[in-house]
Amino acid sequence: MTRQTRWWMDRTAYQIYPRSFADSNGDGLGDIPGIIGRLDHLADLGIGLLWLSPVYRSPMADNGYDISDYRDIAPEYGTLADFDRLVAEAGRRDIGIIMDLVVNHSSDRHPWFLEARRDRDSPFHDFYYWRDPAPDGGPPDNRRAYFGGPVWTFVPEVGRYVFTLFSPQQPDLNWQNPALRRAVHDMMRWWLDRGVRGFRMDVIDLIGKDIDRDLIAEGPYLHGFLQEMHREVLAGRDVVTVGESWNVSRDTALLYCGRDRGELDMVFQFQHIVAGWDETHGKWRPRPLDLVAFKKVWADWQEALQDDGWNSLFLNNHDLPRSVSRYGDAGQWRERSAKALATAVHLMRGTPFVFQGEEIGMTNAGFTAITHYRDIELINMHREMLEQGLPEHQFLEGAGITARDNARTPMQWDAFPGAGFTTGDPWIAINPNHDRINVAAQRDDPGSVLAHYRRLIALRKRHEVIVHGRFVPCLEDHPQVWAYAREGNNRRLSVLCNISSDPARAEVPPGLAVRGTGLIATAGPRDAIAPGPILLEPWEAVAVLGAPG
Ligand code: NOJ
Repeated sequence: MTRQTRWWMDRTAYQIYPRSFADSNGDGLGDIPGIIGRLDHLADLGIGLLWLSPVYRSPMADNGYDISDYRDIAPEYGTLADFDRLVAEAGRRDIGIIMDLVVNHSSDRHPWFLEARRDRDSPFHDFYYWRDPAPDGGPPDNRRAYFGGPVWTFVPEVGRYVFTLFSPQQPDLNWQNPALRRAVHDMMRWWLDRGVRGFRMDVIDLIGKDIDRDLIAEGPYLHGFLQEMHREVLAGRDVVTVGESWNVSRDTALLYCGRDRGELDMVFQFQHIVAGWDETHGKWRPRPLDLVAFKKVWADWQEALQDDGWNSLFLNNHDLPRSVSRYGDAGQWRERSAKALATAVHLMRGTPFVFQGEEIGMTNAGFTAITHYRDIELINMHREMLEQGLPEHQFLEGAGITARDNARTPMQWDAFPGAGFTTGDPWIAINPNHDRINVAAQRDDPGSVLAHYRRLIALRKRHEVIVHGRFVPCLEDHPQVWAYAREGNNRRLSVLCNISSDPARAEVPPGLAVRGTGLIATAGPRDAIAPGPILLEPWEAVAVLGAPG
């Protein structure tokens, strides 16, 4: 069971979306002093790593994923002095800060781009990908951008098109250019020297692209660039890195995070998310949860990284809907389903990532009109999907289930107007259910979702089998029950979760049977899981640690 243990392996991470977390000055936007004021909430939960979504200076076309100064803080979020204070205050609580590294693209207001677009002969022109117009003056080809519209944006000053994979406000940086790579490496060292403990790397699988051969995701230069980054920046520093990749598969995962590759520590993969999307309309026409297929993705990843590499474990982030709404039951069984889903995810092998508000069972936003939304992706895709003939009510129905803004409504701290998030006018509507669902109401309630997360996070620190035990999937074909065992040093941790609002019957196989101590449960406690038939209550989840059998 023993393998190389790194300082972050028994820690649980927490993601803050700064715009929506805590507003200290009443302007309706979250900020860094607001985060500092709420660090005790993270400490109380037992969090050891804090992934901070971008706080850099930015025109905020994509809420900070469009950076105009990589070495400064957005004035609406605070100052570098505030940031240094955040690092220090987090450090006092033994929480390591992970910066969001957004270097597939910059903002179109970044001085690099302003120079690049001013003059073809500027050394910064080659920091981006340019192509001449087609003979008819139109774009070089008809590829589409992720956020809708053409992938090419015309820049009249230089008479050329620039490559913009996301939105025109986010031109792609040209990683082929060694000067660009050096600038990124310098910038990364600068943040590490300020005390950050690692990076979450935005769409990192896109940086090695060859745009002429249309090899964009996991392009031919990707691993060379990551190895160079490791050599130049990360080697010799005890930091943690996680790369976001919507395209990584079990076959390519170890290329990023294999022990001897000298690249990253983990990847965020999305196969469990994409499994619930429609073939043609993607997330805008989501499918109901298919638990058997969903469990299989998780189990496959657990097995693929059993002996090398490391998993990240998550159901939520700022790009995804709220898990309790997407996979749980946000009505009658909200609390229990939030706890059951968390139990299934947290007791696997890897690093769990909790997204702000998940720990209190926050739900989707409940938006019903396009005017409720703020997200650039949604607003652009609304236009595009309607042009393609998707009826608006269908688009809004899909968006209600999967839109990114579902995760971006303000953190619900208390039941007062403003939810304890702001005293001003929030930049996006606060969920009216904050009168029931909020941190203050759960803090001292041992039966709360919050208390359940606190327990799960503590268990990982206490029991080595949660960190390192082998993963053994069980009841793989059961349509309601998510079950697995973790094994090591003659101990077995059995996890059994009913992922449905109906009672579930199952036949416990010998490989899941255990006698010992109940570690956590969402319904009545159990200290054994006997072989043979078992009846689980709706959303009952239980974990028992002990001797096999
Ligand atoms: C992934 C980020 O998580 C998302 O929020 C952003 O819009 C895109 N990358 C582009 O940076």
